Parts: sequence; C-alpha cells; structure tokens
Amino acid sequence: MHAVNIHSDSPIGSTALDYVGNTPLFKIERFEEIPAGVELYAKAEWFNIGGSVKDRAALRIIDDALRDGRLNSSKTLIDSTSGNTGIAYALICAVKGIPCEMVMPENVSEERKRIIAAHGAKVTYTDPFEGSDGAIRYVRELAAQHPEKYFYANQYNNPSNWKAHYDTTGPEIYRQTHGRITHFVAGLGTSGTMMGVGRRLRNYNPDIELVGVQPDEPFNGLEGLKHMASAILPGIYDESLLSRNLGISTEAGYETARDLARREGLFAGQSGGAALHGALDVVAELEEGVVVVLLPDGGSRYLSTNLWPLPAASPLANEHHAPVE
Ligand SMILES: Cc1ncc(COP(=O)(O)O)c(C=O)c1O
Repeated sequence: MHAVNIHSDSPIGSTALDYVGNTPLFKIERFEEIPAGVELYAKAEWFNIGGSVKDRAALRIIDDALRDGRLNSSKTLIDSTSGNTGIAYALICAVKGIPCEMVMPENVSEERKRIIAAHGAKVTYTDPFEGSDGAIRYVRELAAQHPEKYFYANQYNNPSNWKAHYDTTGPEIYRQTHGRITHFVAGLGTSGTMMGVGRRLRNYNPDIELVGVQPDEPFNGLEGLKHMASAILPGIYDESLLSRNLGISTEAGYETARDLARREGLFAGQSGGAALHGALDVVAELEEGVVVVLLPDGGSRYLSTNLWPLPAASPLANEHHAPVE
C-alpha cells in the first residue's frame, strides 16, 4: 500500500487508491469528562478516499487475493457488508476492473446503497430482520454453490482484514502520538480494526490498554457494530486480546456523535459516537494518559437517518416582507 499523506500535495499520477490510509488524528478538547492530565485524540477515518476505515481492509483483502491467485478479473468479488466495506470493495474493484456483488440487509442507509451502485457494483438485499447475519448466511451459500464464479472475500474470517490495520492504522497511531499512547478504543464489527491495531500497539508496548466497544443489545441502531454475545462470532475476533469490553446504547452513540459535531466540528457517524462515548468513560477514570479513539466513518453517510434530525419547520424568514418593487 503506497498511501500518500493527505496533507501533502498529490503527486502527478496518483490514483484514488493512493489515498487509503494516513488519516489525521485530532485532539478532542471540548468535553468536560476529560481530566486535566489526560489527552484524548480521535483518528478520523472518513478521510480515506472511500469515506471509511473499511478502505484499508478491503484494499488489503483484494491485493492479497490477487497476489496469490484466489482472485482475478474473470471472477466476481462477493461479500456481505453493512455498507462501508461494500463501498470500499466497489470503489477498489472499479479501479482494478474486477466485477463486484454486494449483499446487505435491506435497511442499511440509503446513501450506502446509492454509492455502491454508483461504482458499478451489483447490490442484493436480504431480510432486515435477520440483520448482518442473514446477509452472511446468504453469501456463504451462494459462494459455496458457485466456487468457479465467485471470490468470497469473507471479511469476518479473512486475516487480510486485521493485517491491514496491523501494517497501517497501528503504526500511524503510534507515530502520530510519538509513542505516548496508553489506551486504544474502537468499536467492534468484524473486529479487524481492533485485532490489527491492538496487536501492533501491544508489539510496541505490551502495557497499552485495548478497549472494545459494542452495542449493549442485539437489536440496535449502531450500524457497523456487532453485539458479539448474540451474533455469529467473526473468525478473526479474539476476545482475549482486549483489556475491556464496553456496551454502549444506541441513544448514547447518537448523542455523542451530535455533541462531537457541535463541540469539535467533527462530523462522524454513530459507531464513532459510540466509540467516543466509550473513550469518555475511560478517560473519566484516569489521572493521566494518552487515549486514542477511532472514528470509522463520517456523519454524511447517515443524512437520511434519525441521527441528524431536520431542524424544525419555521415560518419563511422573508414571509412578512413586502416584495421590492
Ligand atoms: C460504521 C462502521 N463502524 C465500525 C465498523 C467496525 O470495524 P471493524 O469491522 O474493523 O471491526 C464498521 C465495519 O464495518 C463500520 O462500517
């Protein structure tokens, strides 16, 4: 992966895929939960070209499969996705000339469906009441029936997923904090982010605490995160790596995303809101430390949802003015 720093001028000849990785780390300062001796930073993953952390995993999954021959342009890449991975696969497959088919629960946000289609991928919907597990079961069956047609990217069980974060996200965070990080907080979906970043950070410093964030109930609105106790466990998930696991409510995730936008000017999605809520719980217990929380995607992915309510209707501001003759 030859990522270009987003703050540098883009060299002539750079392509979309050069803008995966090297995302900024912002200092979070305007939350009263942060004690004086504690620093809190947010890794803003919507700065990736496809708008989410999943660009990193999808690029590595595709590159590894192309390298060892599991994938070539006469096969179709297929996977189940809550949306962000689908956008990443569709974008990368468009650049590399690989057919792409995404399977997702029908209730994922409309923005995601439209963006995946915009990149030319086929979209198949599964029953929203079966959640992401329903999409997983459908793809498993289809890929098993047609092994010659499909490359099943299988983000939940593919080690390339966490290795992307081991080789990029982890080193970036360590470098950006000058090796001072003491705690890393991230939501768990496939768990690729936490498994990869966590393993890398522990290699640098075994004392770094790893805090996983999950929805606090099976049926929730924290798109992208999994309630591990009730879900099909991702094969790449190793709970023993974690120092702590926090359960966060949908409403807390939404409210914290709204606070973040209002206070810090950072427009993140609700899984980032939930992760930040968890990070604020962690910092509130500390006297000193350097805490990094990962924000997987941006708020604009959820404009059609209740995360960002429309301002209440008001009379038109110019209603009482006489037209100028
Ligand atoms: C919005 C969002 N948040 C969080 C995650 C979780 O990341 P990971 O799959 O690396 O655990 C995802 C993954 O799909 C996501 O789309």
